[in-house]
This record gives sequence, C-alpha cells and structure tokens, in this order.
Amino acid sequence: MEQKRNLAIVGAQWGDEGKGKIVDILSEGFDVVARYQGGHNAGHTIRIGDRQFILHLIPSGIFHDGVECVIGNGVVVDPEALIEECDALARAGIRVEGRLHVSTRSHLILPYHRVVEKALEESQGTRKIGTTSRGIGPSYEDKVARRGLRVSDLADARALADRIRDLVQSKNRALSALGHRDAIDAEPICDAYAGYAERLRPLVSDTAVLVNRRIRDGRRILFEGAQGALLDIDHGTFPYVTSSTSTSGGIPSGLGIAPRHVHEVMGVVKAYTTRVGCGPFPTELPPDAAERLRARGAEFGATTGRPRRCGWFDAVAARHAAMINGLDRLVVTKIDVLDGCGDIPVCVGYDYKGSPLGEFPPDAEVLKRVEPRYETRPGWTASTAGAKAWADLPGEAQDYLKFLSDLTETPLGVVSTGAERTETIRLD
Ligand code: GDP
Ligand code: IMO
Ligand code: MG
Repeated sequence: MEQKRNLAIVGAQWGDEGKGKIVDILSEGFDVVARYQGGHNAGHTIRIGDRQFILHLIPSGIFHDGVECVIGNGVVVDPEALIEECDALARAGIRVEGRLHVSTRSHLILPYHRVVEKALEESQGTRKIGTTSRGIGPSYEDKVARRGLRVSDLADARALADRIRDLVQSKNRALSALGHRDAIDAEPICDAYAGYAERLRPLVSDTAVLVNRRIRDGRRILFEGAQGALLDIDHGTFPYVTSSTSTSGGIPSGLGIAPRHVHEVMGVVKAYTTRVGCGPFPTELPPDAAERLRARGAEFGATTGRPRRCGWFDAVAARHAAMINGLDRLVVTKIDVLDGCGDIPVCVGYDYKGSPLGEFPPDAEVLKRVEPRYETRPGWTASTAGAKAWADLPGEAQDYLKFLSDLTETPLGVVSTGAERTETIRLD
C-alpha cells in the first residue's frame, strides 16, 4: 500500500472549527503547508504558550521554521492585508522571507471589491449573506467573469494602472445603478498597488511548479482549508456560503496538482456547532442558552469580532461534510467547553413536514424548516481542559467523542482540549 504522505485539513462545519490550531501542530511533520482557496475572510487562531496569533492569509505552518508556506492560485489575495500580516509576523520574530510563496495566478482583491460587496449586501434585505466584508465574493466574481486582476498583473505598473482605471469605471457604473453616490477614484488605487507590487515581488512565483517539484522530490505537503464544508460554494448552504470550494475537492485546482497527491483528509469539527453570518442553522440555540455556550467557548469571530451563533452538534450536517470531503479522520475540538454543562443533546436526524429526511437537504429553504431530532448523551463534571491523553478524559467524554465518530462514520484522529498547542490528544 502506498505510504500516506500528503494530508488535507478541512473545516467540516461552518468554519472556525479550530483548523489553525490543528494545522499548526501537525505542520511539524510536513515540508510545505499550502492554502488553496478563500482569502483573508479566514481567521485561524494559534496559541503558543501565552502568545496568540490570528492568521488570515498566511498558512498556519509559518510557526515552524523549516516549513515552506504557499498561497495557491485558488486563493484571492488582498495585497495590503498580506503585507500587514507579513509585517506583524516579522515584528513577532517569525521569519517569513524566503519561506512564503504566493502564486502568480492568484486573483487580487482591490478596494472596489469591498465597496461593491457592501452596496450589494445593503441592497439584499432578507437575502443578505452576512459576509466578512473583505471583498472575497466580488473578487471571485471578477475571476469567473474573466476580467479580474491577478498577482502576475502587478509586474507591469503602467499596464496595471490602465486596467485598474478601466475596472474602476465599470465598478462606478455598477455602484451608481445600486444607488451608491460616491464614485471611486482610481488614482490612489494605482499608486498603492504599484507600491504593493514592489513589496510582493520577492514572494511571487509559479507555485504550481513549486508544489509539484516538492511532491516529485518526496516532500510532504499539508493542505490547509479555510471556511468549512457548509460554506462551500457548491456543497454548502447556498446562497449563504462563501465564494470558493472549501472542501477537499478544491485542493487540486486551487494549487495546480493532480488529485492523486491528496492522500488523506482530516475534517475538523467542534464538539458543538457555531456559525457566523446569516443562513439556516437547524441546531441553533435560543439566545440565553447560546450566550452561555458563546461565553464558555469565547465564540467571537477571529476576523470580524462578530458574536458566533451557537448550537448543538449536528450529525446530519457533519455526515454530509464527511461524504463530500471523503474524510478519513475526524478531529474534534473544544471538548473542554462542554465540561460541566450537563447532559448534551446531539442532532441525529431531521424531520421535514412530519417525515424523516434521509440526507442533508440541498435547498436552504428546506434546511430552514427542518426539525432536528435529538439524542441526549450524559455530560461529565470532571475537567477535560488541557488533557493530553485519551485515558485522562472522563468516561462520559470518551463516550461522547465515540458517539460523534460513530454518527459520522469517521474514526477519531485528534481531540483538542484547549486553545494552546500542547492541549491536544493524538490518537494515531
Ligand atoms: P479556525 O478558523 O478553524 O482556525 O478557528 P478559529 O481560530 O476561527 O476559532 C477557533 C477558536 O477556538 C480559537 O479562538 C482557538 O484558539 C480556539 N480553540 C481551538 N481549539 C480549542 C479547544 O480545544 N478548546 C478551546 N477552549 N478553544 C479552542
Ligand atoms: P475560517 O477559515 C467562519 C462566512 C461569513 C459569511 C459567509 C460569506 O476562519 O473558518 P465571505 O466574506 O466569505 O463572502 O462570507 O461565510 N465566513 C466564515 N465563517 N469562518 C470563516 O473562515 C469564514 N469565512 C467566511 O461569515 O456567512
Ligand atoms: Mg476562523
């Protein structure tokens, strides 16, 4: 049998499952950590001792000095955000230069993408998505419409300025149709992007060639997903999703490698569920109970600071995520948040119009109306916080974790018992 080398770590709920922490700790066994989709809508938190870092674009392998980090062609890059993140890491003593590679094929986010997104969201009424306002969707729109600017376009300042001027004109027309009064001025954008071009030049390369070379040389690659399966543009709760393929299927095209190089996929879930932004959430708790879970789990967005909506574990949604991603292993995080919270309901099925639904429904309007069916598991009073071995967990916590694994038909790989790197139980 072929030895398992390359590993994908993906979110298996609505994002914020704790992917950053898991990628960070597993990175030590890898040579390259690569992001393949999304942008700085992601917020990946890593706690090392009493220092906390939140990464948005830079892969979570950056804290291991021997690891190369790749931002692949499937990612949309806001150069200002990327430079800020590089500078913040440099100030913290983390070496980025020579270790971070940005694809020449990545599409750029420009300031007008944020303005267009805001105007669109404001015009949506009840169909508002509750985005992170980072310009992610409009940048992907320009990519698919084949008019977007790519990192490679930064190379020629004069041609870049001409393209920006043309694009700003068409964005101003669209904004005016949406009732937006102030026109965007192209000139400050041209100047700023000429400056970003200089800063980014040393980082830019054909990362598809780089990653394929590393693979050919037998190096191990860890693929870092952003967002989660239920935010995937095709398989999530459309239209309340992000604009990229956040599931494992996005890896080959988002990096320019063959699917056969993705050897194993780990899906990260919280021991309960959270969601930021709008859209259906069958197991969402009423405000008071949600507030208790939010306070215990510090559930506030790592990117926007918004309070996360909170609810119980949803095994129907997690099973869907396991199927679409082809999960080999399950990572369960934040088990410590459930310490001492009494018996724990888990959603084991949905009823719709009085009958059980076999599968996770593809239609968000149906999902809004399903009735979750719960099975309650005994809680535990002893602390799981900081546990480093399976045997240190109370029996009820072990049973709860086994229950989640059985429901998702996916063996447990890792259990996380705290935000800090070492607060982790590895089961393989
Ligand atoms: P990501 O986007 O999937 O990387 O997750 P976020 O960083 O947005 O959110 C996860 C939050 O939970 C962060 O604040 C982490 O520091 C924290 N966290 C991760 N694992 C654990 C855990 O096992 N227990 C607790 N209490 N916090 C955790
Ligand atoms: P990480 O990688 C949680 C959500 C937004 C919104 C929807 C669309 O930290 O798990 P977008 O700005 O992407 O167009 O917003 O997706 N969203 C996330 N929610 N974690 C994230 O990333 C998210 N990235 C986007 O809240 O509902
Ligand atoms: Mg996050």
